[in-house]
Amino acid sequence: MIDINQNFKGTAILRGDALRVLRDFPDAVFGGIITDPPYASGAADQNGKQKATSQKYSGVKSGNPLPDFEGDSKDQRSWTDWMTEWLLEARRCALPGAPVCMFIDWRQLPSMTDALQWAGWTWRGVLVWDKTNSRPQRGRFRQQAEFIVWGSNGAMPMSRKAPVLPGVFRRAMPPFAKRIHQTEKPLEVMRDIVKIVEPGGIILDPFAGAGTTVLAAKLEGYPAVGIELSEHYAEAAAKRIDGYGETEQAA
Ligand SMILES: C[S@@+](CC[C@H](N)C(=O)[O-])C[C@H]1O[C@@H](n2cnc3c(N)ncnc32)[C@H](O)[C@@H]1O
Repeated sequence: MIDINQNFKGTAILRGDALRVLRDFPDAVFGGIITDPPYASGAADQNGKQKATSQKYSGVKSGNPLPDFEGDSKDQRSWTDWMTEWLLEARRCALPGAPVCMFIDWRQLPSMTDALQWAGWTWRGVLVWDKTNSRPQRGRFRQQAEFIVWGSNGAMPMSRKAPVLPGVFRRAMPPFAKRIHQTEKPLEVMRDIVKIVEPGGIILDPFAGAGTTVLAAKLEGYPAVGIELSEHYAEAAAKRIDGYGETEQAA
């Protein structure tokens, strides 16, 4: 376990369970929590939720080359309890006034805003990520957007050193052929979102996946720490962050 303190300047991907790893961090060390937890969604009923993530999310039902990820089949009550528990621990590790931003879909949006507030964060709003494409369904609205619930660890003075930021992000998911993770978020969107954190603040992503948040933080000049349970994705994230510029940028 590396020593995370106010002097930490680099980037790191830690492999482990978010809740356990969070418990080892000191109080009031992170400048912001920006993350994309497993949604435990992607289906209308509990049977659907139990399916592999490749079946629920990627749109590629067979021959999917990307490994499934864990933590995505909790029912709504268990998911909300679990979210509250790690959000409570994350708030302890966050500086006063630090922002929190979390991706979610429409089904879990109400549970996420409950968990955020139960854990003592101040809820400040919901941003829209317009994915620009989605499955058309006759007689229904497209589920074209996902959301980013955001808040802060108590008061958030206007004098904070952060720019004016958009409330809607319009950007397609990375093309499947270029994805490292089944539910990888667009790097450009993450680069905009991390700017809510004051310069120099250490950014924490407890569910790092392919490391998009940590990479975005690095590119925007922030120190950052990611936690990832899957060995495969923890390694992929670390490799991606170290190798960016040689591979992804050129692609
Ligand atoms: C939605 S994905 C994140 C994708 C990421 N935003 C990206 O762009 O690649 C959520 C990740 O959380 C990881 N995860 C699930 N449960 C976890 C836990 N208890 N602790 C840490 N990571 C966990 C999964 O393995 C998965 O990679």
